[in-house]
Order: sequence, then C-alpha cells, then structure tokens
Amino acid sequence: MTSADAALEVRNLVKHYRVGGGIAGKGSLVHAVDDVSFELGSGELLGLVGESGSGKSTVANCVMRLAEPTTGEILLRGVDITHLSRREMRPLRRELHMVFQDPYSSLNPRMSCGAIVGEPLRLHGIAKGRDLRARVEEIFDLVGLRSELRYRYPHELSGGQRQRVGLARALILKPSVLIADEPVSALDVSVQASILNLLRDLQREMGFSCLFITHDLATVEFLCDRVAVMYLGKLVELAPRDELFRNPQHPYTQALLSAAVVPDPDEQRARRRVVLEGDVPSPLAPPSGCRFHTRCPLEPRSAPASTDEEPPLAEFAPGHLVACHLVAPGRPAPRIVEETAKIA
Ligand SMILES: Nc1ncnc2c1ncn2[C@@H]1O[C@H](COP(=O)(O)OP(=O)(O)OP(=O)(O)O)[C@@H](O)[C@H]1O
Ligand SMILES: [Mg+2]
Repeated sequence: MTSADAALEVRNLVKHYRVGGGIAGKGSLVHAVDDVSFELGSGELLGLVGESGSGKSTVANCVMRLAEPTTGEILLRGVDITHLSRREMRPLRRELHMVFQDPYSSLNPRMSCGAIVGEPLRLHGIAKGRDLRARVEEIFDLVGLRSELRYRYPHELSGGQRQRVGLARALILKPSVLIADEPVSALDVSVQASILNLLRDLQREMGFSCLFITHDLATVEFLCDRVAVMYLGKLVELAPRDELFRNPQHPYTQALLSAAVVPDPDEQRARRRVVLEGDVPSPLAPPSGCRFHTRCPLEPRSAPASTDEEPPLAEFAPGHLVACHLVAPGRPAPRIVEETAKIA
C-alpha cells in the first residue's frame, strides 16, 4: 500500500504520560505508546490486538485527538491533523468517528436516542427539522433499530441496542474512518455476534475504513483484513489476516494465537498452549533492547543481531512486518510449540 491510498496514517507515534511526583516532583513516565507506525487503507478493516495495557486505546485516543501525542504524526487522507486546533479539526471531524467500549457511558443519558444520533448532523449544520428526522430514521433502520426507539432514553435500551445507537451516531455523517475500541466487549456473547455482523455489513455497504481494537482473536479473524499486534507500547507484527493466522512469526504473536479458542473441538484438543512466563513488565521502565526479551520463550542468543538493540519492524515477507531479532526475510522464527519446553 502506498501512502496515497491511506485513509489514515500514523507515523512514529509516541505517547508518554507523566504520572505521580506531586507538584514539586517530576514523577515518572509511562511509555504507553513508543514509535508506532501503520497505515489504514481505504475501505480496510485493520485489527489492533495485544494484551491489556499494551497501548491500543492510547493509539485510538491520539488518533481521535482525545490525547495529545508526545511526538509523531497522524494524517487523515494525507492531511496532517496532529497539531490542528479544535476549530481546525471541526470540518475533519465528519471524516473520523469513534465507537467506544461502553455504550452506556458514551451516550448522553439526558437525550433521547433519536436526538443523540441526530446530534452530529445538527452540530455540523448539515440537516435540521424534517430532513434531520428522516436521516435519523434511515440510519436507525440501517443499524437494525426499530423506529420508535428514537424516543427512548439510553437507560431504557438493552446493551446491544445501545451499541447500535453508538454505531448509528458514529456513522450518520458517513465518515471515511471509524475507530472502534473494543465495541463489543461489554456486551453479552450472543449480542456480540449480531453487532459484529452488523459492523461488517455496514462496512461493506458504506465502505469506510476501520481500526478495530480488541483482545479477541476470533473477532479479528472474522472481521479484519489485516492485523497489527502490540506489545508494551510497540507494534511487534503486522500482516494480512490469513498470513498472520497461518504463519505468525513474532513469539508473542505465536503465544497469543496458541491461547485463542478455535471453533473446531478436535483442533482445540490437539492444540498446545504456550504460556508466557513472568508478568508484563512495567511501562514505567520497559526492558531495554527487545521489549519482549524478558518473556521470550525462544533463545535470543541465537539471534544474529545484538539483542541490546531494539529490533525494528521490518519486512519478513511482502506485506508481513515483524520486529524480532530472530526473524529476517527467508529466515522464519522457530515455532515455539516445537522448540521449547515452556508449554502447558
Ligand atoms: N491518562 C493516563 N495517564 C497515565 N497513564 C495512562 C493513561 N492512559 C493510559 N495509561 C497507561 O498507558 C498504558 C497503555 O494503556 P492503554 O489504555 O492504551 O492500554 P490498552 O491496550 O488499551 O489496554 P486495555 O486492553 O486494558 O484496554 C497503560 O500502562 C496505562 O496504565
Ligand atoms: Mg483499551
């Protein structure tokens, strides 16, 4: 993909939060996101996965300008939006919308669902009166909400219905980019599937690009075209979905995939789960060199490069990027399940 096709481009994004230290003290820095770069293609669904605290939401919040990046650039359809003021962002806000994890806290409890969904049209001065009502009705229909629910308040809806309202509000301006941060994880499993199906159908129909953040690899496999894997503020692997699931390279990705539940019970029984030893290191003092080295079940000493250096995210195969000292074009990583004894 070239930058010209990118709906969204994140370049060398760094976000450090200063915490603690009181008024006089300097406190310490949380390395939430450290030098993350990726592109989201037009009409592409890109999954962003990684365990809790790896920095996924921080990436989303920086893209949405809900958090100020420490350094780096964010480009929306080629326009650098990193340092735009609120006013300068306003026309671009139509292009970029977000669906949050908790539909309840992200919807204004004092507004009816119809008013919530129609609000972006009103704020941007795009429609009012009968026209606005017609467009709200249209999008309610599109997301599978009965028309009379427009007069209800968020607390009078089920969790699934509320997330449909969140989706309707995010999509009413027909944005070119949708950021979805764990949009179904607060919902019942049975409801999750219907919302994911809806999201996939809407994406096909409307053609928006979507950065989809989740812990759940089955969701990524169902929904996404490409997958980016984060570990402790860094992207460690980025590949087309089928390539990633068939041929994961980074030992962290291998471990993640080994822990995923698969629908086929025979395959599930045959699987061996890789349990990573140790805890996720603190983002206040990430390990030097490769951030994964404290938990890596492979033998880093077999790495040809110096392990004191951070491995760059480099092309292993066309479109398949990996940040691991053990991986190079034509030299795949050893399979963890075959090579190590640290298996449950
Ligand atoms: N406002 C903040 N101030 C200080 N530290 C923060 C802030 N927001 C996030 N962090 C820290 O940044 C790191 C990344 O957090 P983030 O919320 O991006 O992770 P995540 O991958 O979205 O996790 P989860 O899967 O649990 O949602 C964490 O260590 C978190 O504690
Ligand atoms: Mg998060």
